[in-house]
Amino acid sequence: MNILILGSGGREHTFAWKLSQSKNLTKLFVAPGNAGTSKIATNIPIGVNDFESIKDVVLKEGIELVMVGPEDPLVKGVHDFFLQDESLKHVAVIGPEKLAAGLEGSKEFAKEFMIRHHIPTAQYKSFTSETVDDGFRFLEELNPPYVLKADGLAAGKGVVILKDLDEAKTELKAMLVDKKFGMASSTVVIEEFLDGIELSVFVLTDGESYKVLPTAKDYKRIGEGDTGLNTGGMGAISPVPFANKEFMAKIEQQIVKPTVEGLKIDKMPYKGFIFIGLIKVVDDPKVIEYNVRMGDPETEVVLPRIKNDMVELLQAVANQRLNDIHLEIDERTATTVMTVSGGYPGAYEKGKEIKGMEAIQDSLVFHAGTAIKDGKVVTDGGRVMAITSFGTDFKSALAQSYENVEKLSFEGMNYRKDLGFDL
Ligand code: AMP
Ligand code: GLY
Repeated sequence: MNILILGSGGREHTFAWKLSQSKNLTKLFVAPGNAGTSKIATNIPIGVNDFESIKDVVLKEGIELVMVGPEDPLVKGVHDFFLQDESLKHVAVIGPEKLAAGLEGSKEFAKEFMIRHHIPTAQYKSFTSETVDDGFRFLEELNPPYVLKADGLAAGKGVVILKDLDEAKTELKAMLVDKKFGMASSTVVIEEFLDGIELSVFVLTDGESYKVLPTAKDYKRIGEGDTGLNTGGMGAISPVPFANKEFMAKIEQQIVKPTVEGLKIDKMPYKGFIFIGLIKVVDDPKVIEYNVRMGDPETEVVLPRIKNDMVELLQAVANQRLNDIHLEIDERTATTVMTVSGGYPGAYEKGKEIKGMEAIQDSLVFHAGTAIKDGKVVTDGGRVMAITSFGTDFKSALAQSYENVEKLSFEGMNYRKDLGFDL
């Protein structure tokens, strides 16, 4: 079958790598893709939100399945666009319809869903510019730190955690009244601070049944010891060592089952990946967020551990036959280390030649922000390249990733050297 992947990051290169191993694949396209995907698929230079151009490509190339990487097109309704178009409705789309994509598109919508279906999460209230004074009073009732979340998509920057009450009030006003995050912060969710260690659980569902995929932990901050600004993710480890059988059983009973059931009860069609961000508070899991897609760089450690044929798996989702599939997971640990451009997550330069790739051995190289210029692979984004390795435990896998990262070089290259420090 012919498949189109939407997106251009490490996640999409990993999907392209995994899909291209399948005997069921005929032709693979990635829009817009990167230098890595151009070696194993055909890149198409169109944006992920340009639905009309996507339609043209799908019809011209006889594409039968579209794997949506990032959240933006899902929240904008790319799946619905396909279903509503006579010439496209036979094409399978992996990713939820717009309604369910609201689980990532609106924090308030996600909180209401969790409360309605008794899914453990932090206590919260939401406010708008009309109720900002109620927001101040709510903050006064809470204990610090204060967690303020812009309701809408804010490119991963919409969550602010503050220790000081006055600062929290100032921030609330900036978000609601001064529209710090534009329309995304016209509603703000204030919630109870959860103290614990984070992990992510990935679920694949066809809307009826589901499979729990490997767990992962990502490292979001730029600085060692989890300090400094948030990034898209500096590396990841799968599985998460503290997610033992007992804890996973709790997650499945208290969170995964009611989530998939809740989608059914609420009539929110969902064929795709659910990324559940959790915090382990003492011994219990609580949801901090839903994402309606796979994570990046979590995909770079989760997909390599799945032994199944990825085309078969996605087809089973499309045809609602996921129940027939037996998931096979590699028992080893996978780790990925993300190399980033100097200055990231602030301003950074692009177009730096990447050297040393040919020296990498016994690791997988997933391109994130790369392009080809004058026949050379150059940097083209903040996150540049992820190096994934396997090991018997996360320490040996990481040692392998770091050994290979050290062979790579580009002007300004940076990466975190302390992944797994908290495990
Ligand atoms: P989110 O965008 O919802 O994933 O939030 C970004 C980050 O903020 C999370 O990865 C957590 O580290 C942190 N966070 C979000 N909500 C809470 C909470 N209620 N308590 C503690 N930390 C939180
Ligand atoms: N690594 C976090 C994310 O994909 O949202």
